[in-house]
Amino acid sequence: MKIFIGSDHAGYELKERIRVQLAGIGYDVEDFGTSTAESCDYPLIGVKVAEAVADHPETLGILICGTGVGMAIVANKVPGIRAALASNTYIAQFCREHNNANVLVLPGRVVGVDMAMAMVKAWLGARFAGGRHQRRLDLIHDVEKKYSRSGTAEASSK
Ligand code: RB5
Repeated sequence: MKIFIGSDHAGYELKERIRVQLAGIGYDVEDFGTSTAESCDYPLIGVKVAEAVADHPETLGILICGTGVGMAIVANKVPGIRAALASNTYIAQFCREHNNANVLVLPGRVVGVDMAMAMVKAWLGARFAGGRHQRRLDLIHDVEKKYSRSGTAEASSK
């Protein structure tokens, strides 16, 4: 499975650890940066990962900043993205099972490597449950369409 990953400086170290560990267990990980611990602007990286996931529906994305909040906000601006900020394995599992989250957002200044990897594995190991949860996602999609200029959920305005 292909996973796009990105972080700002606050998530850089954790992003590197997750990238290496995921590659080590067979995931095809594409890194959108950042590539140093120097200060940078998280929206520039968050939007790239989100657009890559939106353009390739069979893929997933992982974003990391200090709190995870900024990355979650920017990723969720991209049509088709359901980015979930998780801080424990319960949220990581159920954001996939109930919300079909295609981007997992982690708070790099809040969680350590072990907890982060446990969350990533819980999310990757979970499956969308469908049923009533699909109905709720359809309602979210309706909101997305309502506020989209093009009226579609395509990531067409790059
Ligand atoms: C960077 O200092 C910090 O603001 C950023 O990593 C993130 O937490 C924003 O939401």
